[in-house]
Amino acid sequence: MQAQRSDLTDHEARLNMSASDLKAQHFNYWIEAPAKINLTLDIKGKRPDGYHELETMMHQITLVDRIGFRRGGQGIRLNTDSPDIPADEQNLAYKAARLLFEKFNLQEGIQIFIEKNIPVGAGLAGGSTDAAAVLTGINRLFDLGLEEKQLLELGGGLGSDVPFCLLGGTALGRGRGEILTPIKNGPKLTIVLVKPDFQISTSEVYSDFRMDRVKKFPDNEAFISAWQSCDIISVSRQLNNVLESVSIQWHPRIADIKEQLCELGALNALMSGSGPSVFGIFTRYEIARQAWAHIKQQYPQTYLLSTYKKGEKYD
Ligand code: C5P
Repeated sequence: MQAQRSDLTDHEARLNMSASDLKAQHFNYWIEAPAKINLTLDIKGKRPDGYHELETMMHQITLVDRIGFRRGGQGIRLNTDSPDIPADEQNLAYKAARLLFEKFNLQEGIQIFIEKNIPVGAGLAGGSTDAAAVLTGINRLFDLGLEEKQLLELGGGLGSDVPFCLLGGTALGRGRGEILTPIKNGPKLTIVLVKPDFQISTSEVYSDFRMDRVKKFPDNEAFISAWQSCDIISVSRQLNNVLESVSIQWHPRIADIKEQLCELGALNALMSGSGPSVFGIFTRYEIARQAWAHIKQQYPQTYLLSTYKKGEKYD
């Protein structure tokens, strides 16, 4: 017979607790860190600092990491449930914490836990969103009083996608991607996202990019107009990412997945960021669910998602 919780000693009850219960008890403040997809990505040219001048529509989706915090102890300690990311100072989330600790000369320590759900090296800003959540979390927990503008500036120093991850929602990114214009009043998307079982290096994709290999550039003005009219058919037609010209040449499987998503009912499909993740936009949830179930057999990292609505979670 199974023991009732009340029959157990404290120690036994603790052993019986699930890992997530333990995590929830130990890390008493949690923030959600959503992934982003690029609905358009245009490159306007190369900058003297080696980066590329972008014009890109970014959009948060319901694929989220959860970042747990606990004040106390000494220095910064980072843990994660993922074997795919470093749990030390190489992690962008650790760098984000160190930035604030040094800037504010914080004496009390912090423990950070990354519950990793966003695939790594996928073009989904997984590392950047964790770093953004750490900036937000430490700002709140230590009452640092940083305002959004200051956080965005600090985030931009950590990585091109960090400012968008701080701002959230849907936004047009210019410059390295850090000059942001929020785009309000869009539709709620139903998405199937596929992460094939290989990773792509963002810097290698950018360095192999050639303007003259792009067949068609995005029209961001037309995209924004379709977006704000909630015209999902036009939005789908305007999906365009110039980095596909590099990543698809290296990995033709990306094109196969796009085709497969469309055959299974997506209005259109696109690679996100520098890839290799591909997402399809659907009008009906049930069709999307069937497509998800089908593709998942071939690609285990397939997700049924939608537009993320900003929120945070306390456990
Ligand atoms: O800024 P972040 O570290 O995320 O960028 C990763 C790499 O992507 C950069 O080192 C650079 O090679 C490339 N990149 C770029 N132009 C951008 C953003 C990123 O060339 N606007």
